[in-house]
Amino acid sequence: PPETPPGPLKDTRAKLVNDKKHPWKPLRRGDIRGPCPGLNTLASHGYLPRDGIATPAQIMLAVQEGFNMDFGTALLVTYAAHLVDGNVVTNLLSIGGKSPKTGPDPPPPAIVGGLNTHSVFEGDASLTRGDDFFGDNHSFNKTLFQQLVDASNKYGGGKYNLTVAAEFRHQRIQESIATNPKFDFTSPRFFTAFAETTFPINFFIDGRNENGQLDLDVARSFFQHSRYPDGFFRPSSPRGAQGLDVIFAAHPIQPGRNVDGVNNYVPDPTSADFDTFCLLYTNFVNKTIKGLYPNPTGVLRKALNWNLNILYLSFKDSGCIQEFPMFRS
Ligand code: HEM
Ligand code: MG
Repeated sequence: PPETPPGPLKDTRAKLVNDKKHPWKPLRRGDIRGPCPGLNTLASHGYLPRDGIATPAQIMLAVQEGFNMDFGTALLVTYAAHLVDGNVVTNLLSIGGKSPKTGPDPPPPAIVGGLNTHSVFEGDASLTRGDDFFGDNHSFNKTLFQQLVDASNKYGGGKYNLTVAAEFRHQRIQESIATNPKFDFTSPRFFTAFAETTFPINFFIDGRNENGQLDLDVARSFFQHSRYPDGFFRPSSPRGAQGLDVIFAAHPIQPGRNVDGVNNYVPDPTSADFDTFCLLYTNFVNKTIKGLYPNPTGVLRKALNWNLNILYLSFKDSGCIQEFPMFRS
C-alpha cells in the first residue's frame, strides 16, 4: 500500500507558523504554484516541498500544521483532489500544472494534470482566479482581487468577512453567468465554490485575534504572494468550511450551467446539492473518477482502491454508503 495518512493534530492551539524553520522563499525556476492560495503558501514556506509536488500525506500534515484545517475536511479535499488530479501509482500530486515529476502517466482518459485541471476539481467563479474559458484558471488575477477589495469596502467596512463573502460569491456567479458561455456550476464545483469563500475568514486571520474580519493586505499576502504575514499565528482551533450555510442562505442557487451561451443558466437536478450530500460522493466516484479510470488493472487498480477507501472515510460519518467502482468491470 502507498502510505497511511497522518492522523489529527495532537496540539491544536494557535502558534507561530511563520517561524525560523519555515521561511518564505521566492520561486526557483520550475517551482509550481496553482489555484489554491493555502497550498501555495504552504509550499512557499516549506511546509510542503517547495517545488509544488507533494504526496497526500504531506498535504494532510501541512494543512493541519500550517493552518489548523480539521482532519475530516483535510481528508476529503486532499484525497478527492489526489484521485482526479494526482498520480495514484507514484503517489504524487502537482499543486498547479501538469508535471513530469509526478512520474509515468496511467493510460487515458486519465489526466493526472495537477490542481489546474479544469472541471474535475478546479472550477468556475473562483474568487481571485479567472474562469478556464478566459484562458487562465490558476494565476492570481489582479482585476478580480480588486473586485474583492471593492466588495470588502462596500459591504465589510474595508475587511473581508462573512457578509462580504456572501455578496462576492453571488457577484462572481452572476458575472460568470453573464460572460462565460461554458460556465459550469454543478457538483463538485457547487460545493467547493461555497466552501472556498469561507476559507479566507477561517484560515487567513491570525489565531490571536479571531474577529472574523480579514485585513485586505493580509488577504493579498496569501492570495498573491503565497506568503504568511510576519509573525503569523495559525487559527486557534481545527476548522473547515464553517459559515458556508450563512453564505449560501444569503443568495441560494441551484447547481447548473449555462446552456448554448451566456445568460442562460439552467439548473441540473442530477447534480448533488446541500440537501443531497452523499450524492456528491456517489457522483464523484461513479462519474468523475470512473470516467477517468474506466477499466484500471494491476497496480493502478490497487492504488485507486486504496485511495478510494480513504476518501470514503470522510463520508462515512454522514451515513453515505461506500461505492466500489473499481471492483466492477
Ligand atoms: C481554492 C485545492 C486546502 C484555501 C482551491 C482550488 C483547489 C484547491 C483545486 C481551486 C478551486 C477553484 O477556485 O476553482 C486544495 C486542496 C487542499 C486545499 C487539495 C488540501 C487540503 C486549502 C487550505 C486553504 C485553502 C488549507 C486555506 C488555508 C483556498 C482558497 C481558495 C482555494 C481561499 C479559493 C481561491 C480563489 O478562488 O481565489 N483549493 N485546497 N485551501 N483554496 Fe484550497
Ligand atoms: Mg477556479
